[in-house]
Amino acid sequence: MSRIHEALKKAEQERAMSQSPGAIETAPAVLEAPLETTPFLRSEPTEARFASGGIAESLLARSRQTAWNPDLKSMLFFSGEEHGSGMEEFRTLRTRLYQIREKQPLLSKLLVTSPLPKEGKSFTAANLAQVIVRQHGKRALLIDADLRCPQLHVLVGAEPGPGLSEYLASESDEFSILQRGPMENLFLIAAGHRSQNPAELLANGRMKFLLERLQPIFDWIIIDSPPAALVSDAGLLARYADGVLLVVRSNTTPADAARKARQEFADHNLVGVVLNGITPELSPYSQYYYSVYSEDGKAKG
Ligand SMILES: Nc1ncnc2c1ncn2[C@@H]1O[C@H](COP(=O)(O)OP(=O)(O)O)[C@@H](O)[C@H]1O
Ligand SMILES: [Mg+2]
Repeated sequence: MSRIHEALKKAEQERAMSQSPGAIETAPAVLEAPLETTPFLRSEPTEARFASGGIAESLLARSRQTAWNPDLKSMLFFSGEEHGSGMEEFRTLRTRLYQIREKQPLLSKLLVTSPLPKEGKSFTAANLAQVIVRQHGKRALLIDADLRCPQLHVLVGAEPGPGLSEYLASESDEFSILQRGPMENLFLIAAGHRSQNPAELLANGRMKFLLERLQPIFDWIIIDSPPAALVSDAGLLARYADGVLLVVRSNTTPADAARKARQEFADHNLVGVVLNGITPELSPYSQYYYSVYSEDGKAKG
C-alpha cells in the first residue's frame, strides 16, 4: 500500500470515528510523500535558479511594503510563540519538502490544493510559507490563485489588490502586485479584485510568464488554489507548478473526493498529502513532546 493510500485511509478512518463536537483542531499532521511515483518535471541545472541577481534586487526593491494584520488564530508563526499548536507539524512539513527537493532539485513552485472548500488550502499554504522564511536567508512567495474566493490576503491581513487578476488582465505589472509585510523574506501576491472569467485569465499565458519570471528569485513559490473538485483552475495551475501538495481535512473530506483528487494530480507530480485538522490525541506531536524536547533534540528535562 502506498504512503498516500495510507494517509487517505487514515483520513477515512478518522472520518468514521465519532468525535466530540467540541474537539479542538490542530494543524496538518501528515505529509505522505510518494517519492517513487513523482516524476522529475524540469531539466534546467540547479544553479540557474538563483542566477538572476539583478532582476531579483530590482523586483524586490520595487515591491510594495504594506501593513499586515494577520489573523493570529490561523497564522501560527505570527503569534510570537515557538511551540504553539500546529507549529511543529509545519516544521515537519518543511523538512519533508526539503527531503523531496533533494531528489527533485528544481522543485520550487508548489501548488496547494484540495478537493473542496474550507479544507485548509489557504491555511496550509500561508503557514508553510511562514515556516519556510523562518529559516535564515530563505525567501518565499505566496500567491493567491483562488480568484473565485480569495482568502490569503484576509488570513495574513494584507491588501486585497492590486493582485493576480490585475496582472493577468494586463492592468498591473509584477512590481505593483508584489507585497511584502513585516516578516522578512515573505512576499504575497493577493488574488486581486474578483474576475468574471478566472479560468480564462489563468490560461492566458501571463500566469506562466509571471511564474517563470519570479521563480529564480524565490526559494519557494507557494500557490494557493480553488477547490479541485469544483472548478478546473487547480488542474490548470498544476501544469505551471513543479509539484502539488494535496490537503485533505480530517472528518470532512469525503474519501471518494480525496481519491479522485489524488488520481487527478498523480500526473502532475503530486509530492504529498497533508492531513489537516486532526484532533490533538491523534497527532504524533503532542504538547508533551513540545515541552520535553527542544528543537535540537536534546531533552530539556
Ligand atoms: N488546522 C486548522 N486549525 C485551525 N484553523 C484552521 C485549520 N485549517 C483551516 N483552518 C481555518 O479554517 C478556515 C478555512 O480554511 P481555509 O484554509 O481558508 O480553507 P480553503 O482554503 O481550503 O477553502 C480558515 O479560517 C482557516 O484559517
Ligand atoms: Mg482558500
